[in-house]
Amino acid sequence: MTRHFLRDDDLTPQEQTAVLDLADALKADRFSRRPLEGPQTVALVFDKPSTRTRVSFAVGVADLGGSPLIIDAQGSQMGRGEPVADTARVLERQVAAIVWRTFAQEGLEAMAEAASVPVVNALSDLFHPCQILADLQTVRERKGRLAGLTLAYFGDGANNMAHSYLLGGATAGMHVRIAAPEGYRPDADVLERARAIAAGTGGSAEVVTDARKAAAGADVLATDAWTSMGQEAEAADRVAPFLPFAVDDALVAAAAPEAVVLHCLPAYRGQEITASVLDGPASAVWDEAENRRHAQKALLCFLLDPGAAEGAGRRR
Ligand code: CP
Ligand code: NVA
Repeated sequence: MTRHFLRDDDLTPQEQTAVLDLADALKADRFSRRPLEGPQTVALVFDKPSTRTRVSFAVGVADLGGSPLIIDAQGSQMGRGEPVADTARVLERQVAAIVWRTFAQEGLEAMAEAASVPVVNALSDLFHPCQILADLQTVRERKGRLAGLTLAYFGDGANNMAHSYLLGGATAGMHVRIAAPEGYRPDADVLERARAIAAGTGGSAEVVTDARKAAAGADVLATDAWTSMGQEAEAADRVAPFLPFAVDDALVAAAAPEAVVLHCLPAYRGQEITASVLDGPASAVWDEAENRRHAQKALLCFLLDPGAAEGAGRRR
């Protein structure tokens, strides 16, 4: 059965660990696995702008022996309304996998339903699961473990990053705190799903409106832009509610000693995070951005051959 990665809980806790182990191994030896040798092509389709995702997938696919094909959806027939299922049936005969950054999660589901090759969510309005794999790899590098750590996220609790921290963090056995203003709470189904996963992994998921309480004792502090792609028309209204949730030095001081600060980037210094934090000693954001490449390579290895990827990386 073809495996897809449309949301963080498409990997079981064991599979997530295997992918992270492989990501570490691939980081140590970038060219040790070449499942795309041939080269086979991987389609990288973008409905929204991207720097990190575009570059890390393109470079990662080449590392794996493959050939990346970057498709600007607006310049393709997708932009003129060709059905997703028809696009899937055309692409699957040409490429080994389809990586797609888009708006609606339903589009990804339709692509996966129709495609016989793996489909990967490179960011949707609802989730950003590839980013969370890189984030988890980064935290593990700094803390040596994930299970039992507390990750506090500040800002828009209803966006893709918040939802992926809930599902991906719960899968890793972390305690995930979403600190968000009223009106920007996570999707209820996603929160419920995170709690169900956490019940099995020893983690937890909670939503709070007091940023300082969320930061107290946290091992990881994370934030994201207040206005996500596609929400530009609301940008002026998306400042005041979030001001109490800005990650600044006082918030970092309230966290656990040696807390790690994450931001998926691009960052808006002076809004969701101060320059002193983003560019300061607690920040892991450049490692986090680099790890996109390693984590996504491991993910592609897993999706292309789930059995072979299991146990191939370094065990912790
Ligand atoms: N973090 C992230 O996905 O960055 P890009 O939008 O540049 O791909
Ligand atoms: N929440 C942001 C993440 C960007 C990588 C957005 O969707 O624009």
